[in-house]
This record gives sequence, C-alpha cells and structure tokens, in this order.
Amino acid sequence: MSAAPAATSTTAAEVDFRGVGKAFPAARGGGSEPVRVLEDVTFTARPGEIVAVVGPSGCGKSTLLRAAAGLGRATTGGVGIDGSPVRGIDPRCAVAFQEPRLLPWRSVSANVSLGLPRGLPRAAGRQRVSELLELVGLAGHAGHRPAEISGGMAQRASLARALARNPRVLLLDEPFGALDALTRLRMQDLLLDIHVQDPTTVLLVTHDVEEALYLSDRVVVLGRPEGTGPAGIAEILDVDLPRPRSREDAALARMRGHLLGLLGVER
Ligand SMILES: Nc1ncnc2c1ncn2[C@@H]1O[C@H](COP(=O)(O)OP(=O)(O)O)[C@@H](O)[C@H]1O
Ligand SMILES: [Mg+2]
Repeated sequence: MSAAPAATSTTAAEVDFRGVGKAFPAARGGGSEPVRVLEDVTFTARPGEIVAVVGPSGCGKSTLLRAAAGLGRATTGGVGIDGSPVRGIDPRCAVAFQEPRLLPWRSVSANVSLGLPRGLPRAAGRQRVSELLELVGLAGHAGHRPAEISGGMAQRASLARALARNPRVLLLDEPFGALDALTRLRMQDLLLDIHVQDPTTVLLVTHDVEEALYLSDRVVVLGRPEGTGPAGIAEILDVDLPRPRSREDAALARMRGHLLGLLGVER
C-alpha cells in the first residue's frame, strides 16, 4: 500500500501567516532605503475556510499571496501550511491570477492538463481534465484555443487548471477583476459550487468588497495605520452567515458600509 502523494490530496489545509513582513530592496538609482510593504501580518485560515483579503491598491495583497504560494519569500516571519513552512513554490497550493495566463497555442483541455500533478497516469489525467471542464462549463470547448473563447471562459479554464492539482490551498489573486460585472457574479457562484464539492482552503485577494462579503467566511482588511509605511491588518471581519447568501442581505449591506469606511471610501 502506498500513500497518495501530497500533491493529489484533497484534504484542505490550514494556512498560518506568522508575523509576515516584506521589504523590497531599494530600486537601483532610487533611494537607499528598502521599500517596506508589509509588516507583522498574522492570521490563520482554517481548513476549508474562504478568507478574503482586501485593501487599497498597492498595499501588498499580492505580495502576501505570493508568500503563501512560495513565489516570493517573506522578509520577516513566514507562512506555514499544516504546520510546515512554505519554502519554495509549494505543491500544496495552486494559484490563479487576474489574467488567465493560458498558453495561446494549446487547446483549452491541454491548458487545463498543465495543472495536473506530476506523475499522474495519463488516463487518470484525461479523466480529471474532462471532469474539471464539465465542472466549469467548458466541456463543449475542450478543443478550442484561448483566442477562440471569451474572457470569462478563459478565466474558467484558468480556474480549472488551478483545480487540476487538487490543491489543498487555492490562492486567487483578483481572479474575476478583469471580467464584466455579470460574468463576475456568475464566476463567484461557480467558485461557491466548486467549494461545496471540494471544500479546499481558499485565499481570495479582491478589491471588490461585495465579492469578499458574498464569498468569504472572514475578510482580512489590510491597511497602513499612518497612511504611509508598511501595511498590516487593520481588521478581520467575521462574515458569520451561511452560504449561499443573498446579495441583498441587510447584514451584508451593513458590513459593506463598515468595510468601505475602513478603506476610506465615502458612503
Ligand atoms: N518585485 C518587486 N520589487 C519592488 N517592489 C515591489 C515588487 N513587487 C511589489 N512591489 C511593491 O510592493 C507594493 C505592494 O505590491 P502588491 O503586493 O502588488 O500590492 P496589491 O496587490 O495590494 O496591489 C507596491 O508598492 C509595489 O510597487
Ligand atoms: Mg495585486
């Protein structure tokens, strides 16, 4: 009997951010001080939880997500997944970005299969890809090239590629940010459907406060306490409502007002 490789485990993981700080070296020819982006970010995403990360543009949301994915190291502190530190690109995580980043010369199904864990037998891989294409509603477009499908479809393919790995943590960086409003709402519901079927831990960076409240169990608000300097956690808001939620829910509307106030938006 051999255990399934970690990369194909479907068990959701705990993601623990411990005192995460990040400074980038000063730009060449610029000031000599490193640019401090994040300081002392500490929170834990519980297994299967959907945690949204919101904050002003440039405050370090993507930097935080990259630290969890192992795409960029924290300068101080670190990220642990189920108790073991993230050191390099982490096979327990899958990432999807605002742009679908599909290979233009490959079909939709070939792009999705790029996400499959290494070493998976071919037949199992084919099976997994067709299940995923079904799940994201692209079964009829498996053979199309990215240029032949819409932006929303391309983003669904990108999501399917991320899911192909059976990640224990799904990291989403403004995944619906470039889509039109209606497609964005549909994608949010698709993400919830996927999460019901496979309740992996999700970290969702978004600039859309309504999206954060509609989807997540908790919203981590990043902000710069003094208006300048590194960002830290301004607040963690519990969204203690069962899903699926009504977009018109009065409690969500109150939380939205609160979050916009925190983010400095006039209501
Ligand atoms: N590789 C890098 N080198 C230098 N500065 C960077 C780098 N990546 C990001 N930054 C800076 O860090 C800050 C936070 O960036 P980012 O995490 O992308 O913010 P957000 O995703 O919240 O918009 C920005 O000021 C950005 O210019
Ligand atoms: Mg970003």
